[in-house]
Formats: sequence, C-alpha cells, structure tokens
Amino acid sequence: MDVIPVAAEPPLGMLAELTHRCPLHCSYCSNPIELIAREGEMSTEQWKSVITQARELGVLQVHMSGGEPLARPDLPELVQHASELGCYVNLVTSGLGLTAERLDDLIERGMAHVQLSVQAADAQRSDLLAGAKAFDRKIVAAELIKKSGLPLSVNVVLHRQNHDQLAGIIKLAERMGADRLELANTQYYGWALKNRDALMPTPEQLAEAEPLVRAETKRLAGTMQIIYVVADYYEPYPKPCMYGWGARQLTVAPNGNVLPCPAATAIETLELSNVLHTSLADIWYKSSSFNAYRGEDWMSDTCRSCDRRGQDYGGCRCQAFLLTGDAAATDPVCSKSPQRDIVDLILAAPRTSPALVMRKPTVTR
Ligand code: SF4
Ligand code: FES
Repeated sequence: MDVIPVAAEPPLGMLAELTHRCPLHCSYCSNPIELIAREGEMSTEQWKSVITQARELGVLQVHMSGGEPLARPDLPELVQHASELGCYVNLVTSGLGLTAERLDDLIERGMAHVQLSVQAADAQRSDLLAGAKAFDRKIVAAELIKKSGLPLSVNVVLHRQNHDQLAGIIKLAERMGADRLELANTQYYGWALKNRDALMPTPEQLAEAEPLVRAETKRLAGTMQIIYVVADYYEPYPKPCMYGWGARQLTVAPNGNVLPCPAATAIETLELSNVLHTSLADIWYKSSSFNAYRGEDWMSDTCRSCDRRGQDYGGCRCQAFLLTGDAAATDPVCSKSPQRDIVDLILAAPRTSPALVMRKPTVTR
C-alpha cells in the first residue's frame, strides 16, 4: 500500500520493551495476549543500534521496560549506551531482581529515575494480585532506591480489587518516600481485557476515590506529586491517548516491532514495521502504521467536526478497534460517538465477581 506521510515532529520518548519475561502475573497486564519468547528478543547489539537510531531521531527519554527489564543481563550496558548518547534513562520495574549491587551499577552507568510498580497496600492483597510473593521485595527495592538518592515514582494500577485500599496505597507510597505516585485506573488492552468484568471499578468506588485523591494531593503538595488517571469508560469524553497517534513517543517491542502505542498490537488491521528491516526514522516518518491515524484526515465526521479534536485527538485507536472493530471510529467512550451504547452496556452489566485470570508466563511466539 502506498503511504502518503503526514507531517510529524520528531519523537521525544521511546519505550524500550526489552523483554516480555516477567516474574509477576498481574491480571491487569496490558501486554499482548501473545508474548514474545526469549529467543525472539533482540540482541544487545541490535538494541544498541535501536537506541542510537532513536537518539539520532530526536528521542531524549528512554524508558527501559518490559516485562521486567532486570531480566536482561545486558540492561547495564544498554543503560550506559543510552546515557552516553545524552538520553534521560528511566527504569520501569517490578523491583524484583533489584539488588544494591545492581542498582549501584545502573546508577554509575547513568540511570536517572526508577518507576516501581505496586499492586496494593498490604502484602496479602498485593501478593494475591501479583500472583507472586513480591510485596516485601518491593519494600526493599524502594528502600534501596531512596537510599541511592535517585528519584522514585510509584505506579499503581487501580481496579475493583484494590480501590478499597486507595488510602493505604497513598500512605504506602508516602512511607516509601516516593517523589511521584501515579494512580491509573486500568486500561482494558491485552491481557487486561480478559478480566474487564472482574476489574471494572464500581461508580461508588470512583465517587469515593476522587475526594480522597484531591485531599491527599493537597496534603502532600511539595512532598509527593499525585497523578490520578480516571476510569475512562465512566467519562463523557475520551482520554487524549498518546497525545495523538505517532506524535510524541514510540514503543519498540522485544522482537524489534515498532509500535505507535504500547497496545497497538491489538489493532489487527495494522501492518507493523520492524526495526531489524527498516530504519527507525523511516518507520517514524514514512510507515503505514505510524501514518494511519496521524493528524486529522482519518477521523470520522463526528470527530472532524468537533471542537475537542485538538484536545483528545479523537481518543484511543486501540480502544476504538477493540470495542467496535474499526480503529478509525470515534472512541466509543465519547458521548458523541454513535457507538457509545457499547460502553454503556458494559457499565450497565451486573457487577458479578468472576475469578481473576492471572497473566500466564507462557510465551506463544
Ligand atoms: Fe473527541 Fe471525537 Fe468525541 Fe469530539 S467527537 S470529543 S474529537 S472523540
Ligand atoms: Fe493505543 Fe490508545 S492505547 S491508541
């Protein structure tokens, strides 16, 4: 298919998914159902080439993520490479596998920031939700990070099974000494979509959360920044997903596939390019996948005639595809979408208590 490139600025950030391997089994995992096997992961030299290309393209922030990036023994080498090129390097981790020695080494090689995931406020709930004995190790990891002087962000995915612990989660992040706490209601992509019925918060939980977060944000101002990401199914307008398709950030999967957003493998109609065959610059500027929903020409009449299109960019393409089968549809979360009834029906369904289907460690390709 001939692609007519849409004008684009250089990317600011790259999410480098070094591996899909992970010691946790979170039911809300937004990684694809089919994970990339260890044998399919790019080598150290291939990743270094990707990082070099990203920097040449303009990327300033490299988020080393996964799966669990600490599962890659070459993580320090990749951190050093990105840092020597002038990138700000952030580690997105479960904390499992982080020792004082490994942390010191990563810091020496230029790692600038850590994002640590937390599942709940106490060990019992946390380990249940992670599907692994992880809580105590996260506490140790947080202590090590704080002791090192590195800035720490704590990331928590919120859902029906932990909203009741929200106050305790904020206190925990405060005790950990987090500089920033991100409380993000679950987005239903990848594995998480399997568990939507069990994870969807109730309207009561959300109504309780908002004043609590507001009060805690005020109390902790100047000590810990709190970011609260709303549960978008309950909102009248969609989120400005990725601040627009192919606008600011790119994701590189463990096998070299380059994604306009971390969940983009969900869009079965999207033809992905791979950095082992095409340069990152060509993929960013010229590929069909990055140009598919860039700008406004792809938008439905509903979005194209709407004065919010510069604010939310028509919402989320992955969500549009997963809920309607058409990635170019107006995000059905939007109250102006002719398909909002899809979301309303999901919200109106009785809240039963299906068992969580835990993320399986199996790799299927
Ligand atoms: Fe956003 Fe489109 Fe809804 Fe307008 S119609 S608010 S641009 S999703
Ligand atoms: Fe892919 Fe929103 S998650 S565009």
